[in-house]
Amino acid sequence: APAGVHAQLRAVQQGAAGHAEGDVVEGQQAHAAYVCAAAARRKGCPGGGVGLNAPQHLQDIPMATERTLSILKPDATRRNLTGKINAVFEGAGLRIVAQRRLHLSQQQAEAFYGAHRERGFFKDLVSFMVSGPVVVQVLEGADAIAQNRKVMGATNPANADAGTIRKLFAESIEANSVHGSDSPEAAAHEIGFFFAGTEIVG
Ligand code: CMP
Repeated sequence: APAGVHAQLRAVQQGAAGHAEGDVVEGQQAHAAYVCAAAARRKGCPGGGVGLNAPQHLQDIPMATERTLSILKPDATRRNLTGKINAVFEGAGLRIVAQRRLHLSQQQAEAFYGAHRERGFFKDLVSFMVSGPVVVQVLEGADAIAQNRKVMGATNPANADAGTIRKLFAESIEANSVHGSDSPEAAAHEIGFFFAGTEIVG
C-alpha cells in the first residue's frame, strides 16, 4: 500500500471523530475503513475538510489516500463499457485495487441498497441491479470518495457535467452506469460488503 495509507487506516464504524489522526484500528473491517484524515477534519469543520471550498486553515493539508466502493451497473456490462469506464477512473488518478464481476442476487441487491428501502424507486432499483452482471471494485486515490463522485457526475445524467461517466454513458437516472460510495462511512460498509481485506491489493 502507498506510504501514508496505513497511517490513515481507521475503523469508521467506531467513529472517526473518536480517534486521533494516525490511529490504526484492528478488526475485521479495518481493511475497508480507509477513512482518511480528511474525514476527521470534515467532522470538525462545517464547511468541509478538503479542496477549494475548505476553510483556509485546512487548504494546505494534503488530501489523504482513501478507498471507495464502485459498481459498474448492468447497463454498463450489457453495452460492453467496462473498459471504457475504467479508463475514465484511471485517467482521473483512481487506481482499481480490487475488482470482481458477479450477478447480484435479489437478496444481495436489497441488502446493499437497504438505506433506500423506503424510497418509491427501491423495487425498480433492485430489479434493475439484478437484471445482468455488475462489476464491483475498490478505487483508491487521493480523496477517492469525492474524486469518484466528481468523475461519475450527477445521479441523473440529465444534470451531469460534460465529460463525466454518467454524461458520457448513462441511459437514465436508474440505468446510470455506475454507483459510488457517498461518504467515508458508506465506503467502509460497502467495501466490506463485497471484499475481504486479502482481495484488495494496493
Ligand atoms: P446509486 O448511486 O446507485 O444509488 C441509488 C440509486 O437509485 C441511484 O444511484 C439511482 O440509479 C437510483 N435511482 C432511481 N430512481 C431514483 C431517484 N428518483 N432518485 C435517486 N436515485 C434514483
